[in-house]
Amino acid sequence: MGKIRCAVVGVGNCFAGLVQGIEYYRLHPEQQVIGVMHPVMGGYSIYDIDFVAAFDVDSKKVGNPLNEAVYSEPNKVKWVEKLVQMKDVTVKQSPQLDGVGMYVKKVVTPVTERPLEELRKEVMKEIKDKKVEILVSYLPVGSDKATKFWAQTCLDAKIGFVNCMPSFIASEPEWAKKFEKAGLPIIGDDIKGQVGATIVHRTMARLCDERGTKIEKTYQINVGGNTDFLSMKEQERLASKKISKTESVQSQLSQRLPDERIYVGPSDFIPFLGNTKLMFMRIEGRMWANIPYNMEVRLEVDDKANSAGIVIDAIRYCRIALDRKIAGPLIGPSAWLMKHPPEQFSDDQAKKMAEEFASGPGKKE
Ligand SMILES: NC(=O)c1ccc[n+]([C@@H]2O[C@H](COP(=O)([O-])OP(=O)(O)OC[C@H]3O[C@@H](n4cnc5c(N)ncnc54)[C@H](O)[C@@H]3O)[C@@H](O)[C@H]2O)c1
Repeated sequence: MGKIRCAVVGVGNCFAGLVQGIEYYRLHPEQQVIGVMHPVMGGYSIYDIDFVAAFDVDSKKVGNPLNEAVYSEPNKVKWVEKLVQMKDVTVKQSPQLDGVGMYVKKVVTPVTERPLEELRKEVMKEIKDKKVEILVSYLPVGSDKATKFWAQTCLDAKIGFVNCMPSFIASEPEWAKKFEKAGLPIIGDDIKGQVGATIVHRTMARLCDERGTKIEKTYQINVGGNTDFLSMKEQERLASKKISKTESVQSQLSQRLPDERIYVGPSDFIPFLGNTKLMFMRIEGRMWANIPYNMEVRLEVDDKANSAGIVIDAIRYCRIALDRKIAGPLIGPSAWLMKHPPEQFSDDQAKKMAEEFASGPGKKE
């Protein structure tokens, strides 16, 4: 099968987890590939994903080989000692725009900003020279302007887009139409972790709802110690993340909860947790004869393994769509893999739609 030629914008912890995970399986061929829904999908294995270009703003990453940049502070993923792939890929400069938040400035020192048009030309040249087919965005929360720059770059360069973060592109009708018109696929927005806070909360909320109880209030609190959580300390950057996470839960209820009865959000940064994310969820409701009940869930998970196990599929869905010339937002795969897709479904239904998409007509033999 052909390789999937990808570029990444945001060489942070999520990207480090994705590529170190692939390398981990390369180094351990005796091991069964676990932690992924499809070792092979549409003819593409996890080893068919190649990162041939990369963009960031951090002076510790820009200008360095990608296999080394992945290990630069403040990245914390170290699942394999070193990466042998990607040593010929040099991290190029991305426009900073609104990418680096006030708390993150303490750990990320951006390279000197250059005129946007100059950078746009360089970016386009790199994408063309490297024959990139798909861009994966791991930009920080709150980077709405930078996300729009990169979404437009995908349209101009005629490549697919996997939007892992919560600035709305696939789920924003105006942008969705642009991708459709350009004949390009897009998956988004905001990764729904493999066994993450969102899917667990959605599942429990739906269970309570479908079993006929009435949910009266619910909350989900998340804490972690990586750069993403540091970035999310800044409330102003959080607007779309909160919408993405809250709507993902609301969409599973037969009746929406009033806003004051649902709280879902990243809540604090605890440095020593590193990439460990803790989620605390509570549902309070009433059952037969108006009798009250409540439920609490505590989830402890590596945030980056949680995201990579999903992105490994998102990239391949995007490539299958390119192969089949399917344009616009991929409805089933986005609903299954993302928190804020263009259309919400139950997770059962979304999974069925995504599976049908992967194995449907036009499948690569
Ligand atoms: N489970 C998960 O980890 C998960 C789930 C859902 C969504 N996400 C989202 O994925 C995104 C990436 O998460 P992460 O943990 O890798 O974050 P991170 O902070 O570790 O990495 C972000 C990277 O982007 C770079 N950057 C900042 N501004 C930039 C710009 N203008 N252009 C190019 N690069 C820029 C930073 O230097 C850094 O290398 C976040 O938005 C996060 O909310 C993560």
